[in-house]
Amino acid sequence: MRVARTSAEIRRQLKPLRAGKTIAFVPTMGCLHEGHLSLIKKARSAADIVVVSIYVNPLQFGPNEDLDKYPRTYDADSRLCADAGVDFIFHPETLYPANGPKVTLKAEKLSDCLCGASRPGHFDGVVTVVNILFNIVQPDIAIFGEKDWQQLAIIRRMVSDLQMPIEIIGAETVREADGLAKSSRNRYLSDAERAYAVAVSQALLAMQKLAESGETDIEALKNEANSILLAAGIAAEYLDIRNPVSLKNKRKLNQQPARAFIAARVGETRLIDNMPVLTGHANTEESL
Ligand code: PAJ
Repeated sequence: MRVARTSAEIRRQLKPLRAGKTIAFVPTMGCLHEGHLSLIKKARSAADIVVVSIYVNPLQFGPNEDLDKYPRTYDADSRLCADAGVDFIFHPETLYPANGPKVTLKAEKLSDCLCGASRPGHFDGVVTVVNILFNIVQPDIAIFGEKDWQQLAIIRRMVSDLQMPIEIIGAETVREADGLAKSSRNRYLSDAERAYAVAVSQALLAMQKLAESGETDIEALKNEANSILLAAGIAAEYLDIRNPVSLKNKRKLNQQPARAFIAARVGETRLIDNMPVLTGHANTEESL
């Protein structure tokens, strides 16, 4: 495994390998866990060369968010990457000029709702950095987790709108044994908070079950989920059922695909999760 600290270095390392070989890319902000490792595994089986980037992107953090506090665990991350068969780690100091970039990307519309509503500019920061990383690594394939469904939907739209020759593959959410979605931010949770946090995935599962049993009224599904959250003392920042591609709110469950999304603060920690919601009749999950 080789490690590059600058764009020039990773470009130089990858250049002789490009001819005839496929490159799969997994962008991360480090603090790697089994969720990230499942993406790396998918990358390993999809291409000849696997590149992982580790970069905590300041552009996607709001002024009152956890940029300084965001866990940085490079030594452990690089060991995990080596064990997982990663070929290259790209771990840049920064990706921006000293005074910040003057030209950036904007993720219109898809970024207005869900996490975008409470994190203005977040997805602009994500599409800008992912675009920069794509320009540097020039992968054939890039893997993103369904855990951050809105991010995955926006990246797919970026690649399509900007005609980037990159295949985007989504990877299923990896969970703890009790169902909590794995996240670098779970380490902020106290033991008591950790015990309550499972209500987020339980609320999503409850909506899934109710829909499978034939309930099509979105309000009924949301009430069910809310009662589970409230019993755990959690108030949702949002609890929505939306079209998985357009991210538009749904009024009723029908044959069209639908996905449930929750964001909630447990103590100081903001958790997000999502699951497909299928009616008893339409059991074809969308492939985003
Ligand atoms: P980060 O939060 O480090 O996540 C990197 C990738 O891992 C993302 O595609 C995310 O969806 C995926 N991931 C995280 N937890 C997961 C889980 N439990 N199961 C499956 N996949 C999971 O997302 C980012 O970094 C950044 O926004 C980034 C795309 C790197 C741009 O800065």
